[in-house]
Amino acid sequence: MDKRFNIVLVGGGSTWTPGILKAICKKQKDFPLASIVLYDVDEERQEVIGKFGEILFREEYPEAKFIYTTDKKVAFTDMDFVFCQMRTGGYPMRELDEKIPLSEGVIGQETCGPGGFAYGMRSIRDMIELVNDVREMSPDAWILNYTNPAAIVADALNRVFPDDKKILNICDQPVNLLRSYGRLLDMDPSEFEPVYFGLNHFGWFTHLYNKNGVDMAPKLKEIITTGGFIPVDAEQRDQSWLDTYAMVRDMLVDFPEYLPNTYLQYYLYPDYKANKLDPNYTRANEVMNGREKRVFQECRDAVNAGTTKLSDVVHNDAHGDMIVEVAEAIAFNKNKTYIVIIQNNGLVENVPNDAMVEVAASLGINGPKPYGVGKVDTFYKAMIENQFAYERLTVEAYFEGSYNKALKALTLNRTVVDAKKGRKILDKLIDANKDYWPKLV
Ligand code: G6P
Ligand code: MN
Repeated sequence: MDKRFNIVLVGGGSTWTPGILKAICKKQKDFPLASIVLYDVDEERQEVIGKFGEILFREEYPEAKFIYTTDKKVAFTDMDFVFCQMRTGGYPMRELDEKIPLSEGVIGQETCGPGGFAYGMRSIRDMIELVNDVREMSPDAWILNYTNPAAIVADALNRVFPDDKKILNICDQPVNLLRSYGRLLDMDPSEFEPVYFGLNHFGWFTHLYNKNGVDMAPKLKEIITTGGFIPVDAEQRDQSWLDTYAMVRDMLVDFPEYLPNTYLQYYLYPDYKANKLDPNYTRANEVMNGREKRVFQECRDAVNAGTTKLSDVVHNDAHGDMIVEVAEAIAFNKNKTYIVIIQNNGLVENVPNDAMVEVAASLGINGPKPYGVGKVDTFYKAMIENQFAYERLTVEAYFEGSYNKALKALTLNRTVVDAKKGRKILDKLIDANKDYWPKLV
């Protein structure tokens, strides 16, 4: 009999979960499952999604056993893949991560700047616990980690589990960008052979080869510089995401060498962007009033109707497809190219070997085989080294409980720079995060 896999989705109550479940159903021929488990620490929240999932699997995938649980033993025993997308503190803490820096005139963002720092300090503890739990109950499972801020989580996990070769940290934004490039060029995005370097949420595409070996990056840069840039799924995006994609044009005008990851806007234009953000209504509010309400309502509606056939908005999302395809590439040794987070070791020749960099890799049964990019120019090298120092100091601040290192991290962050501002923000963040962070002295 062909192998059927067991997977667990950590963060079962996430707004992204229904889309992932739908993708799993869609891909049941390519990636056949014996069982799928949703796991969350928030029972009430997960139950809404779980009840939707029960009906979905009964209707679309009865061969796979579907359950949801808050019991670790049930969740982590005999697993082949752990899809991890936890959010310690949930959206209410994301809201504070965004609003506290903005109260001092600094970028407030989920993964960038002091917001990302705060979220990182919360994620590390839970992610270490998760890896320990999984390894106790499923020593050979692949842990596919999407938990943010991925750069900081990856560095912390690499420090604690240096020999664990089955943790893969990966982000969907490069795939979102490839899909958006595909739409502009009228090309199937899976045809691109990308060359990419940087850190998570901090990188650049240098080349995008098509099937005939032609680099499409120059043409794409011209199209974006003259006509602007929108996400592939623009119709479903909130205004803040459209604004974010539009900034790619500004970045290309100023730095025309490479196609930038959208998140670089916060580091390249910190004052300009901070002035554009509303300190009283941030992305967390947009998500809580938008996607979160929609997804949970739709799940409730499906449960009331006794069918998922009528539900629509939770189904169209690239994120879900990618998560399943990544597991499929590993399970069936597909050697498909993905952009992954991995220890540098010379991949970007002139940045530190122990940094967790983001580069293209061929992904198969033994994990990622990354592609190096050689040396990078002074500007990019300096940007990466500065950001890496911020990330590393954040991780050290966590493990050493060091206020001093936390302050140094924030001071180095391009969104902060001024240490007096950094101290004010840090003190407010410490207060807001006392239930989550180690004590910083
Ligand atoms: C992209 C990033 C993720 C991030 C998400 C936030 O997909 O790669 O790391 O969490 O955007 O999206 P949201 O809609 O919640 O602001
Ligand atoms: Mn990401």
